[in-house]
Amino acid sequence: MRTLGLRKGMRIALGIIVLLLASWFFSALIGTPEETASAQTPAEWVSSEQCRECHSQIWDEWAASPHANSWLNEDVRVQSDQFANKDCIDCHAPRPIFETGLGERVLPRSSRRAEGVDCLTCHLLPDGKMAGKIDNPRAACQPTTRRELQRVEMCSGCHDQHKTVQQWKATPFAEHNEGCMECHMPYRDGTPKSGRFHTMPGGHYIEMVRSAVTFMGERDGAGAPSVTITNVRGGHSYPTDERSRASDIWWRPLPADADTLNETGVAAGGGSWRHLHRIRDPYRHEKDIESTLLHFGESRTLAIDDPDADGGVEAVLVYKRSPYYRDPETGIAREIDAVTDPFEDAELVHRVKVGPR
Ligand code: HEC
Ligand code: HEC
Ligand code: HEC
Ligand code: HEC
Ligand code: HEC
Repeated sequence: MRTLGLRKGMRIALGIIVLLLASWFFSALIGTPEETASAQTPAEWVSSEQCRECHSQIWDEWAASPHANSWLNEDVRVQSDQFANKDCIDCHAPRPIFETGLGERVLPRSSRRAEGVDCLTCHLLPDGKMAGKIDNPRAACQPTTRRELQRVEMCSGCHDQHKTVQQWKATPFAEHNEGCMECHMPYRDGTPKSGRFHTMPGGHYIEMVRSAVTFMGERDGAGAPSVTITNVRGGHSYPTDERSRASDIWWRPLPADADTLNETGVAAGGGSWRHLHRIRDPYRHEKDIESTLLHFGESRTLAIDDPDADGGVEAVLVYKRSPYYRDPETGIAREIDAVTDPFEDAELVHRVKVGPR
């Protein structure tokens, strides 16, 4: 009996051990959210480099984008006198916007400025977690759902300086709640599951610029030829944001047989180029220049009223990231009338040909 009792006791003890082992094994396998969350106190996020290993595709897109270049950008460095003008640091090396408040003026950060407008700027929350579309306390970066990510206030703290957000508010896109992301952060394959592109293309991507406007040419019977530019898909005025952006229309007479295109995509042969129109928001000090921005939905028709336009005519629309046509040798800005090559410091957006009278 004694032996039997002992055996029974051992069986119970063994059973308990097996149960304990099993439950330990099971919990180690799945882990309860609380356990993992407390074991994983929010990591200290000090650099966007830390996001690279787990979010490599997004990281690559961002790293090649103007946002990642905002501190090192040569044009910005020259114009800010190597950031001796401290006002320029605010948006070009900003603190996290969830810390300063969405839609509020952003503040400058003092460390790792070379990372520019980085992952932490847009995603880091004051409690060390990441603003995302999902809650996942078990992921290393602890994403939490923040619907504000979808709102234009994500962009307006930095992008309303030249009224891009105000311009957008006046379009049907605002009415239909199609924010900046619709065009600047489309889904990779059209579905939410694939995530959003982080390249955020604008003036540095001529295809994006091209998609904003159409450019047509026609001749009304025996009259002068004309060109019409329409803002069909800029979600704001064209060209938006920087006052330094300019879009120029040039034209020239064409010989009847000018059909082949050269490497710039314009007809080979033809007379000299003449400037017809400039679309631009002037700098504040340029008091004698009026803003000619082309608002969303607006169409502008310009007649080419010149006896040289009686034959065939070619017209081009070009985009410039700097408003000046500088002399290549002296670097000094010239009057537009002194310029002979519209493609100097500019990219071709569209070209049209109008037949002879
Ligand atoms: C309120 C935020 C903000 C401040 C302050 C700011 N910028 Fe910018 N900057 C931007 C944004 C947003 C863009 C991108 C818009 C665009 O490209 O049109 C930009 C673009 C630029 C560009 C164009 C870069 C390129 O590659 O074409 C230059 C140059 C520039 N900034 C210079 C400056 C200088 C100089 C200062 C200080 C006097 C300054 N910025 C202050 C937000 C700011
Ligand atoms: C060790 C890997 C790891 C690191 C490092 C990491 N993350 Fe994550 N991140 C994840 C995982 C896993 C998820 C959850 C994915 C899921 O559940 O679909 C996630 C989700 C997210 C989400 C939410 C995604 C969504 O669909 O809404 C954001 C935003 C995010 N991470 C940003 C960052 C940023 C910014 C950094 C760097 C500061 C970072 N992460 C660092 C692994 C990581
Ligand atoms: C200029 C702001 C901005 C920057 C910079 C930025 N993001 Fe995002 N990110 C967003 C917005 C806005 C969304 C879209 C959220 C949504 O769809 O609700 C997003 C979405 C995400 C998502 C969800 C999945 C996806 O692809 O949509 C992840 C993960 C993420 N970002 C990680 C990063 C990482 C990592 C970096 C740096 C390499 C980074 N982000 C830089 C604004 C930014
Ligand atoms: C913290 C400030 C900040 C925030 C927030 C921000 N940006 Fe920017 N953005 C900049 C700066 C600065 C530049 C100019 C970078 C450069 O060229 O030097 C820029 C450039 C751009 C450009 C121009 C790209 C090009 O080709 O020149 C686009 C488009 C853009 N941002 C879209 C967005 C969108 C969309 C959002 C919101 C989801 C956003 N940005 C949020 C500061 C910001
Ligand atoms: C319907 C599509 C669409 C929407 C919506 C839209 N954009 Fe754009 N955006 C464009 C196109 C196309 C361009 C290129 C033409 C131009 O510069 O106007 C552009 C250019 C830009 C640039 C580049 C300017 C530069 O100088 O390089 C910035 C910055 C920008 N958008 C910010 C925004 C912001 C902020 C919002 C939301 C308030 C927004 N966009 C909404 C289509 C859109």
